[in-house]
Amino acid sequence: MASLGGPDVGFVPTMGAFHEGHLTLMRNARQRHESVCVSLFVNPLQFGRGEDLEMYPRNEERDFELATAAGVDTMFAPSAAELYTRESTLVRVPDITELWEGEVRPGHFDGVATVVAKLFNIVRPRIAYFGWKDIQQCLVIRRMVSDLNMQIGLDFHDTVRESDGLALSSRNAYLTPNDRSAAPLLHRALSRLSSILRGSQLTQELIDLNLTQTKADLRSNGFDVDYLELVNLDDMKKTRTAGPAALIVAARLGTTRLIDNERLDLP
Ligand code: PAF
Repeated sequence: MASLGGPDVGFVPTMGAFHEGHLTLMRNARQRHESVCVSLFVNPLQFGRGEDLEMYPRNEERDFELATAAGVDTMFAPSAAELYTRESTLVRVPDITELWEGEVRPGHFDGVATVVAKLFNIVRPRIAYFGWKDIQQCLVIRRMVSDLNMQIGLDFHDTVRESDGLALSSRNAYLTPNDRSAAPLLHRALSRLSSILRGSQLTQELIDLNLTQTKADLRSNGFDVDYLELVNLDDMKKTRTAGPAALIVAARLGTTRLIDNERLDLP
């Protein structure tokens, strides 16, 4: 496949079903580059068996219109057969990919790293843009770029939220009206926890207690919590020591799986 690159391409990799989070990345890239490329590809390699590959929201026509209005020059929307002509070589980032999302979704990050590496080679961007909402994805890609000496800058943008705090996600379309009204509790719980942790230096036991209590609150509000933890911003291991950290959470509401996070400096 020929390279789509030019001297100064800003690149936004996506799986489509655009929302304001995607469009913010595109507009940012537009301000900084001669040319902006967006890829739209629902990558089968990053979906596990029984996950939502078939039902993942798709609306290419609308996506093309929105991207054009955001100033995008090139849309790259290959088919799976074009991108994967045979069983692919895989890119596997060690350790960090086995935690949290990687534990719940085995193989997910091999699919992400592989497709992002392929897209980087095809598009040859100067800078690629991602949203912090997928914090583990950002750190996996940062590690891949560093380990493989890829000459690509990375720009991670803050999560864009609904007015009630719910992080924008293409998967929010799956929420029933009842689940949609409960969903903002996830961000509210993270914000409350974050202000407690930022407020004063707590012992490990008190941090653990606050995490346990928040998990219990979420469960009593109908969330099936996969994980809620305080991790460092490097290898995403659990941390209780001062420095840059993030609260990360994944929980199911009905059949919809939501993830969110809040970065903070632990005193
Ligand atoms: O975040 C996404 O939409 C996808 O994981 C990505 C980075 C486009 C790879 O398929």
